[in-house]
Amino acid sequence: MSTFKAPKGTYDLLPPDSAAYLAVREAIAAPLRASGYGYIETPGFENVELFARGVGESTDIVTKEMYAFETKGGDRLALRPEGTASVLRAALEGNLHKAGNLPVKLWYSGSYYRYERPQKGRYRHFSQVGAEAIGTEDPALDAELIILADQAYRSLGLRRFRILLNSLGDQECRPVYRDALQSFLRGLDLDEETRRRIEINPLRVLDDKRAEVQKQLTGAPVLRDHLCDACTAYHEEVRALLTAAGVAYEDDERLVRGLDYYTRTTFEFVHDGLGSQSAVGGGGRYDGLSEMIGGPALPSVGWALGVDRTVLALEAEGITLDLPAATSVYAVPLGEEARRVLFGLVSELRRAGVSADFAYGAKGLKGAMKNAHRSGARYALVAGERDLAEGVAQLKDMESGEQQAVALAEVVDRLRQTV
Ligand code: HAM
Repeated sequence: MSTFKAPKGTYDLLPPDSAAYLAVREAIAAPLRASGYGYIETPGFENVELFARGVGESTDIVTKEMYAFETKGGDRLALRPEGTASVLRAALEGNLHKAGNLPVKLWYSGSYYRYERPQKGRYRHFSQVGAEAIGTEDPALDAELIILADQAYRSLGLRRFRILLNSLGDQECRPVYRDALQSFLRGLDLDEETRRRIEINPLRVLDDKRAEVQKQLTGAPVLRDHLCDACTAYHEEVRALLTAAGVAYEDDERLVRGLDYYTRTTFEFVHDGLGSQSAVGGGGRYDGLSEMIGGPALPSVGWALGVDRTVLALEAEGITLDLPAATSVYAVPLGEEARRVLFGLVSELRRAGVSADFAYGAKGLKGAMKNAHRSGARYALVAGERDLAEGVAQLKDMESGEQQAVALAEVVDRLRQTV
């Protein structure tokens, strides 16, 4: 072991476990790719102001959790704590919204950074796959995204997750509700910090996990009673489309997200086997974000699913993904001449599309066969001096243990047909 360890709140993805992470990313991306979402990649850091304005000055993410720093050139940057602000920034900068085909539908996959108190399921470096549909106000788009996330989780075999759904209203009805909520909250017995929060971000108080706070919140005005007609109609349509698609959800009028840009539809995917860090994904509509970062009005909706927590959810449900072995054929040479011949065959196999690996280094037969087993290969291809003299190699079926001689000239064709 070296003297260095992964920084606090981070962990390494190592084989063989890393294969499950790749498969999860792939499973989340697949329904998006098949639904008109194009792949986007943005830098790992951005101007700090983008997140301050986009995610919100008063959010925990911006005030406490951002890795912000000044470069040698004097730029104020931050490691990205989330993807939505960056993706919208990039879409605007690249003029994707002017190409005349709204909504612009994008998906992404990458690393995000939040300086949080680490615990199981909560890390300082984590991984998301996300989707954003930019520039269109249409309840079918909100429904599409929720349906696709549901499809992704189901394709992985997950069952113990629930979809929580809410509407946060728009610039017309939310301020009215905010006032009503503030008046109610000011009358409660709360600590200094929470009182400050009432003035800055009263909706977040509803999210307070403490029992003594929750107890006082019974009877608090609920947003649903304050939604304007347009928001109510929009929300009803999203709900109806989900129901028609057979996607079950729970109305959760207390659902408040940790980012300030949301309007109307908000949702969270929670998994019941994960303890306190139960949100495996979340998202919603953010109709005002574009204008908040200096762009034109572009009503949009999106989500991000946490890859780390999705892997934990698989573990919690006891699901092992049925992943094909990375290697189909493992070549084991005995002697110098056999090394040259088998190494040549391995390269040929790979070009022919058969995944193959080779016993590198000077190992004995026993050690090499152990590696062959560990690789998960279906076949071992073994050859020594005597085999070469006969123009053959031994093809060993690692499952049945059966072995047969195959002419060297036929090895590639034979394996191409069988694996
Ligand atoms: P978020 O709810 O902050 O939303 O993050 C989405 C998901 O990322 C969470 O549900 C969780 O699974 C995962 N996640 C967040 N923080 C951590 C952490 N510290 N450790 C492990 N996993 C974590 C967003 O980021 C929004 N940008 C989603 C969105 C897209 N809204 C609209 N478009």
